[in-house]
Amino acid sequence: MKDKWTPSGWRAKPAKHIPTDYPDPGALARVEQQLRSYPPLVFAGEARKLKADLANVVAGKAFLLQGGDCAESFKEFHPDNIRDTFRTLMAMSVVLTFAASRPVVKVGRIAGQFGKPRSEQIETQGDVTLPSYRGDNINGMDFTPQSRTPDPERLVKAYSQSAATLNLIRAFANGGYADLHNVHRWMVGFVADSPQGKRYQEIADRISEAIAFMEACGITPQSVPQVRHVDVYTSHEALLLGYEEAMTRVDSTTGDWYDTSAHFVWIGDRTRQLDGAHVEFARGIKNPIGIKCGPSLEPDDLLRLIDALNPNDEPGRLTLIARFGSDKVESGLPKLVRAVTKAGRSVVWSCDPMHGNTLKTASGFKTRPFDRILAEARAFTDILPSEGAYPGGVHVEMTGQQVTECLGGASRVTEEDLSSRYHTHCDPRLNGTQALDLAFLIAEQLRGVRENERKAQAG
Ligand code: PEP
Ligand code: CO
Repeated sequence: MKDKWTPSGWRAKPAKHIPTDYPDPGALARVEQQLRSYPPLVFAGEARKLKADLANVVAGKAFLLQGGDCAESFKEFHPDNIRDTFRTLMAMSVVLTFAASRPVVKVGRIAGQFGKPRSEQIETQGDVTLPSYRGDNINGMDFTPQSRTPDPERLVKAYSQSAATLNLIRAFANGGYADLHNVHRWMVGFVADSPQGKRYQEIADRISEAIAFMEACGITPQSVPQVRHVDVYTSHEALLLGYEEAMTRVDSTTGDWYDTSAHFVWIGDRTRQLDGAHVEFARGIKNPIGIKCGPSLEPDDLLRLIDALNPNDEPGRLTLIARFGSDKVESGLPKLVRAVTKAGRSVVWSCDPMHGNTLKTASGFKTRPFDRILAEARAFTDILPSEGAYPGGVHVEMTGQQVTECLGGASRVTEEDLSSRYHTHCDPRLNGTQALDLAFLIAEQLRGVRENERKAQAG
């Protein structure tokens, strides 16, 4: 019986972090019904292509770059923001491809990343207590009873914003902007003058020279379309299962179920209970999926999750996203990697150096010290090879904007600076310079991994 799966089967399981306080549950059900009739945002064939790309990562032949906002918002919805996130991902990807000589699989936390699990269910300001903000697809950020009340119409708005965002991403990816000839234009203005920006320009110059050389040899965008187009995939946390269920459709080619809200969805660190609703939902969809793995996850529980979510050990199906914190990664990660390697399971190992490194300043800002983010990424890329596994990806909260949300980095964001451009709707994001800096660090680490592989093969 366990294998019998339906898109609504999760409703019979305990569900954490899904709001139950909609004033009119009938209105929520009507909106979900309406969403069922809306067009899919992505196609099953695209999700299968991503799975194949991720299988290449499992084999150590590619690298996964996943990034975007912690939470997209209605307020920050603007073509310039989408473009800047897109080109920051492209610039990071150039740095990583160049250093590791491996293709980079590009996945945005975008076009659907709205709902947030919150550690605190309520928020108190002065003597007023209200439900916490839970993401723009559920309630509003303003601290008023009306704004904090869940409103199902927000799901329709989030769907429409996701569709428009995805449309622009597809245009950027295929309409000429992602053409390698534009490599110099992917540098966001304010980053260009930083040391990272200068290093990037050097790589971009070398790429331009290589393109000119190839063209002289007759290899042109017309003969090699890869120079003009890129695949950029979308992803978000599959948190609000009513929405995900409504977007889950049978693929006419294969007869399988796909969640058409994004190419890739993941299960958060707070909702990965083996018998819970989120695992039940994810096990039946054929999309590639992720699991956030934090300090409370024991090796045996991880193996059970892998059995439930990828029983046939299909490479590319499952990405494990380690998010320990720079102070816990050394003690927590090796035993998970060891258990998975020993069990011979095919997974992508990716590093989220953001979520374990969050702290609150005395003045009340949620922030992340950039040196801890770098330290966790460095530890991850050291630990994986030492356990016989491949450090296959990175998962970041970032924006192309010049925000002041994470402390430190080349732009030396201080505690006093945080208030000047703190725009995030949830967790603090890397700004464009910090994102590029992290890409350079990982690129160097990957180059080391590659050289060690070469030495091992030669010796
Ligand atoms: C997130 O990725 O935004 C998130 C909430 O992460 P985690 O589940 O790892 O805490
Ligand atoms: Co977050």
